[in-house]
Amino acid sequence: MDIYEALYTTRAMRRVKPDPIPSDVQQRILDAAVRAPSGGNTQNWRFLVVDDPDVRGKLGPIYRRCLGMLWETIYKDRMEAARANPDDPDNKQSLIMQRSAQHLADNFEVYPMLLFSFVQYDPTGGSIFPATWSAMLAARAEGVGTALTSVFMFEMDPVLEILGVPKDQGWLFSSCVTFGYPTGRWGVAPRTPVHEVSYRNSWGAPLGFEIPKPLWPPNA
Ligand SMILES: Cc1cc2nc3c(=O)[nH]c(=O)nc-3n(C[C@H](O)[C@H](O)[C@H](O)COP(=O)(O)O)c2cc1C
Repeated sequence: MDIYEALYTTRAMRRVKPDPIPSDVQQRILDAAVRAPSGGNTQNWRFLVVDDPDVRGKLGPIYRRCLGMLWETIYKDRMEAARANPDDPDNKQSLIMQRSAQHLADNFEVYPMLLFSFVQYDPTGGSIFPATWSAMLAARAEGVGTALTSVFMFEMDPVLEILGVPKDQGWLFSSCVTFGYPTGRWGVAPRTPVHEVSYRNSWGAPLGFEIPKPLWPPNA
């Protein structure tokens, strides 16, 4: 697959089938992930693959509680504003995102594979997210959809307990990525155009070009 196709179409793919991810596909995804950079090449990371339905079954109710907490805290104002004015384009996107994220929670046990990432002594996440994103891009190349989730942070202790993570070695939970074969189609991620969020030489100065629509696919 063309690398730009992977970069433009690796979305939060939350509607998936329960079909298992074959071992050879898992191997290519994980082996690609550990090629990623980390500060000083320390590779202080651990990846925990969960495909046991019993473990997923224990995690599902915790995930749903955590997502509920997210809606009630960090996202409360944003979602209330979106519901109050649902025709505004930004609010529409927020409501689509909420429905999709809630679908993930409601169907947590359906995802055939989860990938938990942990990093030691790196609260910035700079030495773990490149590897996680590489796993997601590799999955895209394999036709496997992924969604990065972080809400387990609201209730870490029971999750660490279920997964048997040692609590005295400095391992920090970074994310849990769901994997599964999509039920729908891949699309280009809609984002604020680059010239609206980028400057050149000085904060606020124009970038020097404008890109009103995505450059991939090239002849769209
Ligand atoms: C740091 C981080 C944390 C995230 N946490 C969650 C999460 O807990 N649950 C979830 O459903 N999606 C989560 N997401 C996925 C985002 O909602 C998603 O990337 C964003 O809405 C863009 O989606 P799109 O690529 O399909 O447009 C997270 C993404 C990032 C980068």
